[in-house]
Amino acid sequence: MIGLRRKSPFPYSLSSILSPRISSTSLRAFLPMRPLTSESLNPSVLNVQYAVRGELAIKAEDLRAKLKEDNHGLPFDKVISSNIGNPQQKGLDQPPITFTRQVAALMEWPALAELAPDAFPKDVIARAKELSEEIGSIGAYSHSQGVPFIRQNVAKFIEERDGYPSNPDHIFLTAGASAGVSLLISMLISTPKAGILIPIPQYPLYTATLAQYNGVPIPYHLDETMDWATSVHEIEGAIEKAHRDGVHAKALVIINPGNPTGALLDEETQKKLVELCQKYSLVLLADEVYQTNLHKPDTHPFSSFKKIVCDLQSPTALISFHSISKGISGECGRRGGYFECTNVSEEVLALIYKMVSVGLCPPLGGQIGVDSMIRPPKPGDESYDLWKQETDTIHDALRHRTHTMAERLNGLPGVTCVKSPGALYLYPQIRLSDKAIEAAKKAGKEPDAFYALELLHETGICVVPGSGFGQKDGEWHYRLTCLCPGVDEYVGKLEKFHQGFVERYGSA
Ligand SMILES: Cc1ncc(COP(=O)(O)O)c(C=O)c1O
Repeated sequence: MIGLRRKSPFPYSLSSILSPRISSTSLRAFLPMRPLTSESLNPSVLNVQYAVRGELAIKAEDLRAKLKEDNHGLPFDKVISSNIGNPQQKGLDQPPITFTRQVAALMEWPALAELAPDAFPKDVIARAKELSEEIGSIGAYSHSQGVPFIRQNVAKFIEERDGYPSNPDHIFLTAGASAGVSLLISMLISTPKAGILIPIPQYPLYTATLAQYNGVPIPYHLDETMDWATSVHEIEGAIEKAHRDGVHAKALVIINPGNPTGALLDEETQKKLVELCQKYSLVLLADEVYQTNLHKPDTHPFSSFKKIVCDLQSPTALISFHSISKGISGECGRRGGYFECTNVSEEVLALIYKMVSVGLCPPLGGQIGVDSMIRPPKPGDESYDLWKQETDTIHDALRHRTHTMAERLNGLPGVTCVKSPGALYLYPQIRLSDKAIEAAKKAGKEPDAFYALELLHETGICVVPGSGFGQKDGEWHYRLTCLCPGVDEYVGKLEKFHQGFVERYGSA
């Protein structure tokens, strides 16, 4: 019997399982009744939670389907997806940058340049030709680390941004920042007691990926009273607590500008964070996907951690992530991004390369998207004026919406909202009455999820409850994006809903 051959080093070799000597009855006894059940899966999968596409988002999709029915009976005529930073999503409709799409179109079908020469500016045709010469057909796999020419361009972009050299061999193009984050976390979690410091509130990619790879999230809280500031003291406390619990902190995640907070770090804090990583031998995972989403660039500029590490000549190992999904690019569905490794040994780089090569290569469309993002048209290029106009419009709209929404949310009873200087979100705190908390309990929901569900059912606006990002006990928040057009009508709905909610449940 197969089940008795426990001592063999290979008890279930394919040949023994398929052996005709084994009766089909004994084989059936050995096999599970149903091969694919939730119990038969890797238990880590059950622990993964990702609120951005959780209960609220699923309900929003149901409501969207219902709206298509005659006499749907809903008190709104559209569902507004304010739950996810997906700028080009239907209903949000941020227009794609023409330059990016024109280059992409010619890369998809190079013959277009001859078939419709007047449809493309000269610099676009030249760019696509240059890329085609380097890449060939985008239907072929590329170098696993990403097209060398595009990595060289990324390195130049980083050098110009930071004023320090960047090595294309230390850059890995990825299918969005998520793929890079997930890979690095999978590599860093070396034992069940290995942990990673993550900000609270955080973007749930981090807790979800840690759950998947059995890593321990080590939370550190951002300070809402100080506009969601990051405190080195708080992080040090979290490291020491983890140590007492037998958890080894291996890396520190910093999201800058923040999601969901929109907070932006100043260089002084960044320096202290780099020094902290040096002191505790932490790898710094710098998520910088919102680096161009700055609403007050004069007073709140962005500095990369690469620059800070170089300024300090620090040996801190740094992995910096960027993406084409955010910024003014908004090309979420194209899946493009990169990470740069600083102070990472050749040995580890070779292992990262080995791991990315298992996935063959990042999508070519995404790689080309990265090239267009980091090499936009320059003044004097035929595409420049349109590119400038399009990007200015997107920046202005985001700035205006963020400002208007924060101002008006702060005017509501029991609501306080930090006026975020960056990213695409606001994360207001809502103080809920005992009656509202009791009603939530009866409904089997967290109070902020209860609030968000009522908001969805009454207005069609879908937000994500703070419990999906993490918050202090007894505090309630929700995250909403600043991507919805028609901000006055949108905030008007939020205000009306909140006032009704307070009338129903009282104020805190
Ligand atoms: C902080 C942060 N990091 C990473 C990502 C993932 O981006 P990508 O689409 O590049 O995978 C997001 C997406 O919202 C994000 O907010």
